[in-house]
Amino acid sequence: MSKKTIHILAIESSCDDTGASVLKNNRVLSNEVAGQKVHAAYGGVVPELASRAHQQNIVPVVDQALKIANVDKSELDAIAFTRGPGLMGSLLVGTSFAKSLSIALDIPLIPVNHMQAHVLAHFIEDESQKQPPFPFLCMTISGGHTQILRVNSHEDFEILGETIDDAVGEAFDKTAKLLGLPYPGGPLIDKNSKKGNPLAFSFSEPKTPNPLDFSFSGFKTAILYFLQREQKKDSDFIKNNINDICASVQRSLVNILMNRLKLAAEKSGIKHVAIAGGVSANSEIRSTLKAMEKELGWITYIPKFEYTTDNAAMIGIVGYYKYLSKDFSSENVIATSRLDINK
Ligand code: KG4
Ligand code: ZN
Repeated sequence: MSKKTIHILAIESSCDDTGASVLKNNRVLSNEVAGQKVHAAYGGVVPELASRAHQQNIVPVVDQALKIANVDKSELDAIAFTRGPGLMGSLLVGTSFAKSLSIALDIPLIPVNHMQAHVLAHFIEDESQKQPPFPFLCMTISGGHTQILRVNSHEDFEILGETIDDAVGEAFDKTAKLLGLPYPGGPLIDKNSKKGNPLAFSFSEPKTPNPLDFSFSGFKTAILYFLQREQKKDSDFIKNNINDICASVQRSLVNILMNRLKLAAEKSGIKHVAIAGGVSANSEIRSTLKAMEKELGWITYIPKFEYTTDNAAMIGIVGYYKYLSKDFSSENVIATSRLDINK
């Protein structure tokens, strides 16, 4: 029996990137993202400016995604969109757009959980990615979340550990801000680290009651006090040591992540280990994870670069699985800023 070809248009607008993607079954035909430079001057995402920029971007980004995919609106089988978690005003732009288009084209509407999408990005059919077998471990590291999950199926996610305060991406971005680097600072810390000595400075690892949980708010404060102390001795301390500071901070954050992940693998006995989310674009977390293949016999899964930071293709792949199980929703569905990983 030949399988029906399904075209899904996916929309992502949970934070500060407006994304649209067209998938043909589990393959990506286009994956367009419009970033929002407007936040750089403020050192973080300004929610009101984000929703306004989404409103300006969404129509051209969707048009572009359809054009690149060479798919006409009339060929679409469903619209998938990010329902949450994320910034409410931003989510509302994508949600309203998706609802209107689904009504206009009379095709199903598929709400998607952004956190599930980061994980299931591994299942996008692409020559440069391999797909993990169930169960596998996935450490989702982004600007909003830090979780270690045991993934039992496409729809069953068990949280083994998570942050009790800030996300690791925030630790990168807030440290960058203290160093005078523009938002988002994570990629710049990564870049500067390549020229620095990771052993120049050391920062202690925060402890949590559940050893698989994370805590980054104390880490950020420790960096602040460290910089204040050093600047008393040398007012140009940051300027003179920027690369070493970045490399040392990055090494500490990667150690914190890897120590928890190793413990989760040891406790669960699972050797298939994946990372997902914006911070998995980090070059040191990528190389450290890869090194575990030789060191601990893990089989590791690192998403293709464009499927790590917020993108609509990952929303589309969840949409595809939900389409197969006819998991549609009515136009009464509402966006939600907080959303449990299994919802
Ligand atoms: O997944 P994502 O695009 O958005 C959220 O859902 O939060 O993640 C964004 C986060 C930001 O904190 C950004 O600084 C971080 O990912 N990031 C990085 C790198 N690239 C992006 N952090 C460290 N190194 C990178 N190369
Ligand atoms: Zn994200």
